[in-house]
Amino acid sequence: MILQSKNIKLYKNKGQTKFVTCFDDTQLDNLNLTLDSETLHKIKFIFDSENFNGNNGDLQNINLFRDECPQNIMLVGLGKKEDFTLDKLRKNIAKAVKKAAKSPSKSIDLNIENLINLTKSDEIIRTISEAVVMATYKFNKYKSDVKVPTLEEFNIIYTHENQLEDINKGINEGVILGQANILARTLVNEPANMLGPIELSIEAKKAGDKSGFEVEIFDEASIKELNMQAFLQVAKASINPPRLIVMRYNGNPENKEEIVGLVGKGLTYDSGGLSIKPSTSMVSMKSDMGGAAAVIGAMTAITKLKVNVNVVAVVAACENMISGKSYRPGDIIGSMGGKTIEVLNTDAEGRLTLIDAVTYIIEKEHATKVVDIATLTGAVLSALGTTATGVITNNDSLYNSLEQASKICDEKVWRLPTFDEYKELIKSDIADLKNQGGRNAGTITAGLFIGEFTEEKPWLHLDIAGTSWTGRDNHYESKGGTGAGARLLYHLVKQLEN
Ligand code: BES
Ligand code: MN
Ligand code: ZN
Repeated sequence: MILQSKNIKLYKNKGQTKFVTCFDDTQLDNLNLTLDSETLHKIKFIFDSENFNGNNGDLQNINLFRDECPQNIMLVGLGKKEDFTLDKLRKNIAKAVKKAAKSPSKSIDLNIENLINLTKSDEIIRTISEAVVMATYKFNKYKSDVKVPTLEEFNIIYTHENQLEDINKGINEGVILGQANILARTLVNEPANMLGPIELSIEAKKAGDKSGFEVEIFDEASIKELNMQAFLQVAKASINPPRLIVMRYNGNPENKEEIVGLVGKGLTYDSGGLSIKPSTSMVSMKSDMGGAAAVIGAMTAITKLKVNVNVVAVVAACENMISGKSYRPGDIIGSMGGKTIEVLNTDAEGRLTLIDAVTYIIEKEHATKVVDIATLTGAVLSALGTTATGVITNNDSLYNSLEQASKICDEKVWRLPTFDEYKELIKSDIADLKNQGGRNAGTITAGLFIGEFTEEKPWLHLDIAGTSWTGRDNHYESKGGTGAGARLLYHLVKQLEN
């Protein structure tokens, strides 16, 4: 699929479907539709009927039953102009694209004249482009009888030549961010028999080669040399050996002192280990590398869009399996950071892999800020559902940047408290820490466990167990991985540019 900009004077109605975005007070006569009077009459009829009022979410396709373009008019309602948000635009464009993609239409035209002045034009175009890319995604590579996607081009039609620079900037950013999201979704959707720790490291390397960041992969022997004891305990039952994936991007070589560290949970499968999961909860556990997918996706966008920040990303990739070599509930294990941990539950494995990745990124990669992202707790689903990512942090200013980033991409976040009382819950009688804090406040205690290893660095912990997966096709999402975190982390790092 190609996204491109076209000047209205040189390009008239070549798309098979013409998108017409409307607000609730839009008058048809004010829309520069460049259509013949008979067609305009048809549209006016629908417009004046009860079917379409330009309300937010209203969507009406008008088939003109002819060979000439446009063959269809898609009316896209955006609601009240004064209530306009980029997110409404993203969702409504996505819904319209999905509807158009079901028709035989291969090309879409969208005139942006009534949108371009609502807020910064490059942001409008970025949002539209992102929506188009995300809405056309479907994970169907394992289906034998798949129909090829019909949509071939999306044309953004502009009026004034001086808009072109912003438009092309917006298209470029939107496509890159959409693709970052889609890469993350695909990695999550790949089943664990196809994507184990080694394959995940290969995908990271491919992404690095394509977009221009450096990737270093450590095998089991090197991980042992690094003394990543907690990570190795989780990994050791599986016949598929672990990999430590390190991705580096030097976006601000003048400022070597500031390095943003991203850590993604990379459990390519989580059976629970000896504290085995019920089989119904196990089915979706190929998605337990959603944090890794997010950081890999984010790195592609950070690099391609040349963000002016040094970033290093780390994934401790492994499988949590069962065998004679499994670590056990009751074991006391070590960690790269030196603290000992009493294992109460082998299903609380994510935090064990994450703490060693955090220690590694601080000690070996000299990260000055740490952001970890993980499908960490079922408890975050109880607390926030599938709508918002749960956040634990030790730094207000870093959380502010995350909130700004969240507003731009509409990946919602919510901060949880970190009172000292919660920290008491993860202290062990016989070791420094225990890996489970009890039945209550599970998302907080899991986050604070990781916080024990962040060495006072400004730190954010993002629990995406609720947001990384969706059970339904909706606006720009499709069943399976949502790619949560890829766009969010990009915008976060972008906020940290000086
Ligand atoms: N990967 C799971 C968390 C999860 C649950 C992700 C549901 C996506 C959907 C994690 O490793 C886990 O098993 N957490 C346990 C922790 C508990 C044993 C302290 C949980 O949430 O039950
Ligand atoms: Mn688990
Ligand atoms: Zn897990």
